[in-house]
Amino acid sequence: MGRLVIVSNRVPVPEKGGAAGAGGLAVALKAALEDRGGIWMGWSGKTSGEDEPQPLSHQQQGNITYALTDLTDTDVEEYYRGFANRVLWPICHYRLDLAEYGRKEMAGYFRVNRFFAHRLAPLIKPDDVVWVHDYHLIPLAAELRAMGLKNRIGFFLHIPWPPADVLFTMPVHEEIVRSLSYYDLVGFQTDHDLENFAGCLRREGIGYEVGQGRFSAYGRIFKGGTYAIGIETAAFANFAKKASANKTVRRARESLQDRSLIIGVDRLDYSKGITQRIDAFERFVLANPAHQGHVTYLQITPKSRSEVPEYEAMQSMVAEQAGRVNGALGTVDWVPIRYVNRSVGRHILAGLYRLGKVGLVTPLRDGMNLVAKEYVAAQDPEDPGVLVLSRFAGAARELKQALLVNPYDIEGTANAIARALSMPLEERQERWKTMIDQLLEHDVSSWCRVFLEDLTASPVQTC
Ligand code: UDP
Ligand code: G6P
Repeated sequence: MGRLVIVSNRVPVPEKGGAAGAGGLAVALKAALEDRGGIWMGWSGKTSGEDEPQPLSHQQQGNITYALTDLTDTDVEEYYRGFANRVLWPICHYRLDLAEYGRKEMAGYFRVNRFFAHRLAPLIKPDDVVWVHDYHLIPLAAELRAMGLKNRIGFFLHIPWPPADVLFTMPVHEEIVRSLSYYDLVGFQTDHDLENFAGCLRREGIGYEVGQGRFSAYGRIFKGGTYAIGIETAAFANFAKKASANKTVRRARESLQDRSLIIGVDRLDYSKGITQRIDAFERFVLANPAHQGHVTYLQITPKSRSEVPEYEAMQSMVAEQAGRVNGALGTVDWVPIRYVNRSVGRHILAGLYRLGKVGLVTPLRDGMNLVAKEYVAAQDPEDPGVLVLSRFAGAARELKQALLVNPYDIEGTANAIARALSMPLEERQERWKTMIDQLLEHDVSSWCRVFLEDLTASPVQTC
């Protein structure tokens, strides 16, 4: 069995002393890399001058080599902020209104992918299996194939794939679809994303399904499939249990007094539906006077992509909205919304989720949403909280026992919060049990194993 080569824009290089802060994806991929030996290649997160590219920086950790490259300021502006996060991200999240096309940014995106391929190719041995992650690197396989690489190459898209009518508004949509045909296996989060992709191929007669999950397009045959990403469920449940002893979690618990905690955790991103959620919380409080003074809504929202204008605009929007609601509803001894605009470590998050009587996860569109799964995993089986989940999150396809809401329907979400807070213990336990069983069976390790098995079994691209 060959080595595994993972490529992603961001690389979770473990800090000295272990990977305490790493998310489930990093943990699962690291385990797979350690098993087979391998490389994890990506952007260092740093920029260098515009001159000659610097050599890759290598870090060896056991069986794994982390190979990181700097990018120039222009690259980051055009490839990362420009095309990946101002075109692909909004389009894949159905936000045509926010997409900002520019020829320069599109060219930068393809140029950086070529650059990644040129840096990666010399590291690859003939029997290595390559696994590329997410929307930043869609054209990577085409570039590697152009350099003569015959290895198996798989791709997994962590975000949604939009319907043809949405995708085709993007000027280079055909190049993007064509780029995917150079992979041996293309994985999506949900059947819905896979159907959308198939629809895009059919719509302009670009390609068609040839059976057994395979597609024929642009003269190539490749496989497409659904692989809903999971979390490290058992480990997360375990550290949520232990986290009650953590100082910060204890302080949070004491500060609540006898109030019920409603918790939301999201990067500051327009796809997460944070402003609609605050509206729903306000509506809930106004409609339920008995709860006034007896609930606390904690919204943890680390800054994200702050140099992208649409994200910068959200920063003040959400802060102002939380302030306005607190001003309107709060009293001398009650602050309804606690807004934390900073990142919180995963161990503390686990403890906070467990304190939450309601987990409020209401994205307008989300590939999966790991927070929803983490909230469920963190619950106390004796007294579990209730997940209120957007039907537009990939996670809703698996977590059907959550209270599913349409996040655009403010009143409906407000009603779901009220229902969650008054749900009898027996019903909470029943719903939670079904969800945790699902998450234990389909955790991130099984996701990783099944994808790699299918990649190994898929036909090899010949051109
Ligand atoms: N997260 C974290 N600290 C924070 C906020 C979020 O560690 O302050 C983690 C969270 O536990 C989850 C991930 O970030 O594992 C977010 O993943 P999700 O799929 O929910 O959303 P994404 O940010 O990938 O769109
Ligand atoms: C989502 C994307 C990831 C991305 C992460 C954080 O989860 O699917 O690819 O790494 O957001 O965004 P950032 O732009 O900070 O890498």
